[in-house]
This record gives sequence, C-alpha cells and structure tokens, in this order.
Amino acid sequence: MLSISSLLILVFLFTSLDIVLGGAPCDTGEISCTVESFAIYCNITTNNDAEKASSVISECSEYFFNSNRTSQQFYIQELDQQTINVSIDTRVVRLDLIVEGNNEIVFISDNPNVTSLMITTHGSLTVSKDFLSGFSNLQYVYLEFLTLDGFPVFYTQLIEISLDSLILPSVVTVTSAMLNQLILIKLTMIQTYVAQWFNLAENAFDNATYITDITLHGIQRYPSFLFANIVNLQNLSLIVDSLDTEFEDDAFIGLDELVILRISNSVNMDFLLEYTFSKLVTLIVASCNLTALDQEFFAGQKSLIEIYSSWNPFECGCDMAWLNFVSVNLSWTVDGTCSTPVDVDGNSITNSSNYIGCPLQSFECFNNTFICPSDSICVNTALSAFCNCTEAGYEFQNETNTCSGVNKLTSQGILFLVFVLMCLLLI
Ligand SMILES: *[C@@H]1O[C@H](CO)[C@@H](O)[C@H](O)[C@H]1NC(C)=O
Ligand SMILES: *[C@@H]1O[C@H](CO)[C@@H](O)[C@H](O)[C@H]1NC(C)=O
Ligand SMILES: *[C@@H]1O[C@H](CO)[C@@H](O)[C@H](O)[C@H]1NC(C)=O
Ligand SMILES: *[C@@H]1O[C@H](CO)[C@@H](O)[C@H](O)[C@H]1NC(C)=O
Ligand SMILES: *[C@@H]1O[C@H](CO)[C@@H](O)[C@H](O)[C@H]1NC(C)=O
Ligand SMILES: *[C@@H]1O[C@H](CO)[C@@H](O)[C@H](O)[C@H]1NC(C)=O
Ligand SMILES: *[C@@H]1O[C@H](CO)[C@@H](O)[C@H](O)[C@H]1NC(C)=O
Ligand SMILES: *[C@@H]1O[C@H](CO)[C@@H](O)[C@H](O)[C@H]1NC(C)=O
Ligand SMILES: *[C@@H]1O[C@H](CO)[C@@H](O)[C@H](O)[C@H]1NC(C)=O
Ligand SMILES: *[C@@H]1O[C@H](CO)[C@@H](O)[C@H](O)[C@H]1NC(C)=O
Ligand SMILES: *[C@@H]1O[C@H](CO)[C@@H](O)[C@H](O)[C@H]1NC(C)=O
Ligand SMILES: *[C@@H]1O[C@H](CO)[C@@H](O)[C@H](O)[C@H]1NC(C)=O
Repeated sequence: MLSISSLLILVFLFTSLDIVLGGAPCDTGEISCTVESFAIYCNITTNNDAEKASSVISECSEYFFNSNRTSQQFYIQELDQQTINVSIDTRVVRLDLIVEGNNEIVFISDNPNVTSLMITTHGSLTVSKDFLSGFSNLQYVYLEFLTLDGFPVFYTQLIEISLDSLILPSVVTVTSAMLNQLILIKLTMIQTYVAQWFNLAENAFDNATYITDITLHGIQRYPSFLFANIVNLQNLSLIVDSLDTEFEDDAFIGLDELVILRISNSVNMDFLLEYTFSKLVTLIVASCNLTALDQEFFAGQKSLIEIYSSWNPFECGCDMAWLNFVSVNLSWTVDGTCSTPVDVDGNSITNSSNYIGCPLQSFECFNNTFICPSDSICVNTALSAFCNCTEAGYEFQNETNTCSGVNKLTSQGILFLVFVLMCLLLI
C-alpha cells in the first residue's frame, strides 16, 4: 500500500499538462481516430510532450464535434508523471478515458451533459475522491484501477456504478451514506487487491431498493440482512475467493425475486444451505471446489431448472444420482463432470452409468411432482422423499395418501361425543 509520504512524492513528481478537448480537425501524426456510428476512438501518442499532447487532443476533439457524435474515447499513450488538466466540451454526453503510465487527472471544467463516464488506466492514475463534483448529470460511472484519496463521492443519483480494483488509502467499509443511491439499478464492486478488501456495513444497501443486478468480489464479511431491502434483486454474482470470507446468519434473507445466483471460487458453500429462493431459476457454481451438490438444498428451490457447475471435483456417489433424475425426468439443464470414482472420471454428473447399483430412489419433492395432501409437505432426504403431516400427532398413511392420526380421531371424536351427549341431555 502507498503511504501518504510516497503519495506526496508521486504528486510532487508530476509535471503539469493541459488537455483542452475542443479545437482543430482530427489529423494524422500522433493521433489515429477510429470512427464508428456513435463514437470516435482517439488513440493518441504523446511522447510525453505536454504541449504536443494537448494540441493533438484538441484536434481530435474538434473532429469529433464536427461529426455530431456525442461519445468519445481517448486512449492516451506514452505519457508518464504528468498532471492532466482535462477540460471537455460541454456537449459531450459520453466520455471514456484510458490512460497509460503513472499520471494524475484533474477535471478543470464542469461537465453538465456527461451522463456516462468511464476511466481506466494501464498504469496508475490518480484522481481525488471528489473528482465527480463537476458531473452534475452523471448516471453511469465505470472506474477501474484508479488511485483515490478515499471512496469516490457520487454527487448525483446514479443508475449504474461499477468500481473495479480501486486503490484507496485504507480498507473501506461501504455504508448507506456512501451509496445513498435511490435510483441505482446495477452495482458492481470488485476489489482484487487482497489487502484492501471492502467491508459492507449492514445498512449499505438500505436505500438502494431498485437494484436488480449486483456483482461483488473481495468482500470480507457479508453481514446479516445485507440484501433484505433490495426487493427487486434478480441477478446476484459473488466472487468469493478466501476461506476467511464470513457469511453471517441471515445474510441472504429477503432475496425473493432472485433469478440468477452466481458464486465463483467459493471454497465452502454451506452458508447457502439454509436458504430457499422462491424464484431462483439458475444457479452458477462453476469452479467452487465442490465435491457434491446437496439434494435437499436444490429440492427446496421451487423454480430452479439450471445448474452450471463445471470445473468442480465431483464425487459421483449415490447421493448425486438425483441429478440424473432431474435431468431426465424434469429436463433440468445440468453441467459438471465427475472426478471420482475413477471409472466415471470425466462423465457428466447426470450420466445414468455413474449411478448403476445405487438403491432405488424417489426424488418427488422436486417441483412438487410428488403430490402430498394439503395438510402435509413433501420432504426429501438424501435418498428418498416422503409426505410429512404438518400437524403434530398426525401421520401420513402411504396407502390412502391422507394425513390421519390418534389426535385427530380422539380430539374430534370426544368433541363429537360431548356434543351428542349434550344434545341428548337437552332433549
Ligand atoms: C492545471 O490546473 C491547476 C488547478 O486547477 C493549475 O494550478 C495548473 O496551473 C494547471 N496546469 C496548467 C498547465 O495549466
Ligand atoms: C494505438 O496506436 C498504436 C500505434 O500508434 C497501436 O500500437 C495501439 O495498438 C493502438 N491502441 C489502441 C487501443 O488502439
Ligand atoms: C449535425 O447535426 C445537425 C442537426 O442535426 C445538422 O444540421 C448538421 O448538418 C450535422 N453536421 C454534420 C457534420 O453532420
Ligand atoms: C448540452 O448539449 C446540448 C446539445 O449538444 C447543447 O445544446 C447544450 O448547450 C449543452 N449544455 C451545456 C450546459 O453545455
Ligand atoms: C435514505 O435516504 C433518505 C432520503 O435521502 C435519507 O433521509 C435516509 O437517511 C437514508 N437512509 C439511510 C440508511 O441512508
Ligand atoms: C447477471 O450478471 C452477470 C454479472 O454481472 C452478467 O454477466 C449477466 O449477463 C447477468 N445476467 C442477466 C440475465 O442479466
Ligand atoms: C478443495 O477442497 C479440498 C477438500 O475437499 C481441499 O483439500 C483443497 O485444499 C481445496 N482446494 C482449494 C483450492 O481450496
Ligand atoms: C413445475 O410443474 C408445473 C406443472 O407440472 C410446470 O408447469 C412447471 O413448468 C414446472 N416448473 C419447473 C421449474 O419445472
Ligand atoms: C423418471 O420417472 C419414471 C416414472 O416415474 C421412473 O420410472 C424413472 O426411474 C425416472 N427416471 C429417473 C432417471 O429417475
Ligand atoms: C455415460 O457414460 C458412459 C460410460 O461411463 C458412456 O459410454 C456414455 O457415452 C455416457 N453418456 C453420455 C450421454 O455421455
Ligand atoms: C415432520 O413435521 C413435524 C411437524 O409436524 C416436524 O416436527 C418434524 O421435524 C418433521 N419431520 C421431518 C423429517 O421433516
Ligand atoms: C410410509 O412410507 C415411508 C417411506 O417408505 C415410511 O418411512 C413410513 O413409515 C410409511 N408410513 C406408514 C404410516 O406406513
């Protein structure tokens, strides 16, 4: 991690360079423009010459405006240890900046028309955490690999936020105040620098109730009720690559609209087993070091029909035979291959040859194909299914497909007898 003093030295080393976007026509030379229907991609070689770079960028910018395009991408190469004062024409709607080398960017003008901003670097690009203050109508922001003096401050309500591997002065706990985005629909927070993994406060998403898509990577701790207020969340993608990642009880409560759940690199998925997601259709658990898929968990997911589970070292024992059942009889999409036993190594986990000799099984709780009476529920065990009466003292009668029991007969019988006796007495 960069210490404050080394940051200061870096800042001191930067020389200044002005980039004024808006000027003469796009020219040949150090600049190559690729023109597409809505955007112009300007690839600029600066030779670390500040003045030259500045004018070249202006030329490209002019060409861009004359052609009526509102999107522009600047790819700036051969620039190092510079402070880039970026002033862009107020007509720009979408701006992408890709900068090589170790530089600093300062936006020196307001950018009222920009709704979409993407900044990334192939080196180290420093911005202040307040650098978005002049973007008064920003809706989509994508920031990658930037070095900031704190978590970026968003001055407008955003629709999409994508933060990938930001270098911050310290480990950040993301709170609701930092993410107070009432209209946010899509959120991506990826942290690949292990020493800087994010924490999420329990209230982090309390106000972000419209989110439909979340991708998280490098979160240390998933607190209880984290997603409980995101009632529209449909697509949740978690990259979990440390055994130390902590999933608190109830962290996944409230995900009633979830349709796609993707978990990657997880080394322990037990935390998931206690949840049912009533609308979950697709579970993606590729490369999760799983040796089995727990039938009880999957039987509880009433809408699930797709399991993508390739690159797991599955042990295709009899407890995996249900995958053959759901694939053949319920037409689920299931991928994944067996690692053991050796004679089925490489077979699909749905292949019936893996499970020859396994005891006869019933998996009828899947999608309630086993019809239990309304006063009972279908219960799967590892190798079978049965109806369990919901009222204490009642027992399921396999022969008549009904719930009945001692309590039912005696309590109702006694009430009836008392009633008859009272009637008789009254007469
Ligand atoms: C860049 O902007 C800063 C302040 O916004 C200013 O101090 C500096 O002189 C500018 N650099 C140039 C070369 O104009
Ligand atoms: C930019 O142009 C240089 C040659 O001038 C080329 O090598 C490089 O691949 C281009 N980069 C992009 C992103 O187009
Ligand atoms: C830019 O758009 C305006 C209005 O849509 C049009 O009048 C003008 O001719 C266009 N300019 C170019 C260079 O296409
Ligand atoms: C935003 O862009 C439109 C269209 O190019 C332009 O008419 C308007 O003046 C711009 N707004 C500002 C504040 O520059
Ligand atoms: C949610 O947003 C409202 C309105 O902006 C604000 O008053 C409230 O404090 C926010 N709640 C949290 C937990 O941030
Ligand atoms: C779900 O999110 C992932 C990760 O962002 C994305 O790749 C995928 O396209 C999304 N799927 C749908 C159906 O939105
Ligand atoms: C995968 O799980 C096995 C135990 O089932 C463990 O020995 C191994 O270290 C795990 N691999 C990784 C990469 O975590
Ligand atoms: C569940 O069963 C119903 C009725 O047989 C069927 O219409 C539905 O498509 C099934 N759902 C799944 C996810 O298999
Ligand atoms: C599919 O269902 C039929 C009829 O219930 C049953 O005989 C068969 O064993 C099932 N197939 C598998 C692969 O479980
Ligand atoms: C199932 O496995 C057997 C041998 O283990 C193999 O011959 C067969 O082709 C496999 N079936 C499918 C559909 O892959
Ligand atoms: C069956 O239901 C009763 C409550 O009626 C419950 O106590 C018991 O744990 C259930 N058994 C199983 C195996 O689910
Ligand atoms: C019904 O069948 C199940 C599973 O075969 C068995 O465990 C249970 O004891 C049976 N119940 C009765 C009342 O016979």
